[in-house]
Amino acid sequence: MTRAISLHDVSKTYLKGVRVVDRLSLDISPGEFLVLLGPSGCGKSTVLRMIAGLEEITEGQLLLDGEYGNDLPPSGRDMAMVFQNFALYPNMTGRDNIGFPLRIESPGADPGRRVDATARMLGIEDLLDRFPSQLSGGERQRVAMGRAIARHPSAFLMDEPLSNLDAKLRNHLRAEISKLTRELGVTTVYVTHDQAEAMSLGDRVAVLRGGVLQQVDTPRAVYALPRNVFVAAFIGTPRINLLRGLVRAPLDGAMTISLGKQFLRLPEPLSLDHQLLRVQQGREVIVGLRSEAVRIAEPAAARPGEVVLTGLVEHMEFQGHEVLVHFNTGSRPAVVPDLEAPRPARRPVRRRRREGTVLTRLKERADALRAGPVVMLEHPADTGPGAVAAPESRLPGDLVVRTTPDIRLQHGMQVPLLVDLARLFVFDQHGERICPAPDRLPDLEE
Ligand SMILES: Nc1ncnc2c1ncn2[C@@H]1O[C@H](COP(=O)(O)OP(=O)(O)O)[C@@H](O)[C@H]1O
Ligand SMILES: [Mg+2]
Repeated sequence: MTRAISLHDVSKTYLKGVRVVDRLSLDISPGEFLVLLGPSGCGKSTVLRMIAGLEEITEGQLLLDGEYGNDLPPSGRDMAMVFQNFALYPNMTGRDNIGFPLRIESPGADPGRRVDATARMLGIEDLLDRFPSQLSGGERQRVAMGRAIARHPSAFLMDEPLSNLDAKLRNHLRAEISKLTRELGVTTVYVTHDQAEAMSLGDRVAVLRGGVLQQVDTPRAVYALPRNVFVAAFIGTPRINLLRGLVRAPLDGAMTISLGKQFLRLPEPLSLDHQLLRVQQGREVIVGLRSEAVRIAEPAAARPGEVVLTGLVEHMEFQGHEVLVHFNTGSRPAVVPDLEAPRPARRPVRRRRREGTVLTRLKERADALRAGPVVMLEHPADTGPGAVAAPESRLPGDLVVRTTPDIRLQHGMQVPLLVDLARLFVFDQHGERICPAPDRLPDLEE
């Protein structure tokens, strides 16, 4: 049996009135593999623990197969959890660890056959008689998976199960988890802060920021049609280039987006997407260029829809199969807060005098602490005392382009860059996507 899990406007408030999960709604279908993705501290584990019944739901509803489930005890939910730190009983062998939940469920029965079948499935038959201290990290995590699987639960809840493993093993186990959960056809909610892991595993990916759901979509759609700059910047490597631009749409000339010292001239007739920019005339926007939208080539080689920028080589990252070249194009990058670290503590909200009830004041405070803007056009150095360096001065270049290792570039060279305007992302001042227009997956149309 596999189950549907729905969250309706679910919020979580720990002490002090801060909402760490804020009105989250999600419908997870039976058998679906859903990944909860977001930076550390954004509330992923809290969501998973609320689904598991390990954490109380402050507001909203959890539905399990359509039935109200908020108050069900964890044991009544028939779900198995796998944690980052493996959580095996140190004084039990692999066999006993895997069999333990089965013995709890039906004390009289012998779990032996189930344990053996699970071990075969995971290829860990020869580890069954070892204690956790005699297992490597990857082996321990396999045993922990075995313990989750042996119960034949109706859902798996996995909280960063691969984070403590080295990269090679992580990739290997990632593929195993994918294969296994698909074979079993069991609904899986998988938490990670690693976007590559999310993209490779998920049927859908739910992106969280500061407890607020930003977008839930297929991996392909979150990459190609990110709803806002946060999602765009969180997903994809190298990270999308986000530059501050200004739209100029004169009545009698071509529409351009200026990027500091240079500009992108939008080809006429304007595409449907670019027409959406007309209303932004005179406004600041954020231009998003993924590395596949820019190539290093002579202007003469430009294809229709490509325009030329010039970049000054500032830094090169050799990666073996490719080189990431950091260019200075004289534009200013947009700063997207909260991408990696937990949100920095915000300044406390100034206390008002005796206005409203304690509850409304608590709520105001919670709202003030909530996610904050997804983009900052004024970087923190502009706004606060005590800030040290402006982000620009620390970034090597403002445009990162991927190229083959055989290309000969040197520091300080001026290089022509061809920008494919069909792959242009434009976000408004609040960081919401304008181009491409909704309902269009640009790379599906080629
Ligand atoms: N038991 C708790 N009491 C108070 N605050 C908590 C508790 N658990 C988590 N938090 C806070 O809730 C926020 C979200 O935490 P968590 O769900 O663990 O995030 P993630 O798993 O995305 O890293 C964090 O700010 C964290 O400090
Ligand atoms: Mg966590």
